[in-house]
Amino acid sequence: MSGANHNEVLSGTRSLLERIAADFSPAVFASSLAAEDMVLTDLILRAKLPITIFTLETGRLHAETLGMIDRIRETYDYEVALYKPEPAAITAYVAANGLNAFYDSIAMRKECCRIRKVEPLKRALAGNKAWITGQRRAQSTTRSELAMQEDDVAHGLQKFNPLADWSEDDVWQYIRDHQVPFNPLHEKGYPSIGCEPCTRAIQPGEDIRAGRWWWESPDSKECGLHVVDGKLVRSKPDQTEIPTS
Ligand code: ADX
Ligand code: SF4
Repeated sequence: MSGANHNEVLSGTRSLLERIAADFSPAVFASSLAAEDMVLTDLILRAKLPITIFTLETGRLHAETLGMIDRIRETYDYEVALYKPEPAAITAYVAANGLNAFYDSIAMRKECCRIRKVEPLKRALAGNKAWITGQRRAQSTTRSELAMQEDDVAHGLQKFNPLADWSEDDVWQYIRDHQVPFNPLHEKGYPSIGCEPCTRAIQPGEDIRAGRWWWESPDSKECGLHVVDGKLVRSKPDQTEIPTS
């Protein structure tokens, strides 16, 4: 993307974040601590927007990913809120199925994601008017229609995807321009980072999400944070316009 386009996209994103903070308080940002989410973290914290940043600490994240919580504290003097799975649910799942049963079937994988991500997400969103994600349209076939604003009927609040129209180049240009700390795994072949046992490095030329749940088909590769029964959200095409000033 050219510099002019990048600046346009960036100023639209800044305006949208300001609008969310002003009109949808209290609002929260779900950060996976990957590159896109570090861009949003930088935008939110540098502008001192009253948006709470949280991470779903699944108990299976890479050490490098957890290290980003320290980098954020050092860089921005900000403590990311952590939401963890219910210990009893983990104990029951592991006792019944084993620690790594998510490799056995899609159902087992979804149940692990439900316990480690989806249930904690519900707690993180409770009582808020809006939540923000770092999803981009270009990330996968399941996201090609992604709107900037969605009606999250499952959780009962508005959902914003401010980077929906950002390219991967936009993300890395922002990180370079603003010296944003980023997960070192991105330089080791991991463009997309989830839990450690469910993420592998990709080979040159592979799809950027090829390393996520690599043993499943591309259509099932969502963890339930963004799609529940195929109808978690409704797009709001009439409200996706971003003010330019
Ligand atoms: S996933 O659904 O396949 O896991 P992905 O890793 O692409 O999602 O991340 C998309 C967005 O989901 C992130 O930008 C972030 O907003 C949210 N997200 C994913 N994982 C987490 C996490 N562990 N904690 C908080 N938010 C997350
Ligand atoms: Fe469990 Fe893997 Fe889902 Fe993480 S990504 S919650 S380890 S199935």
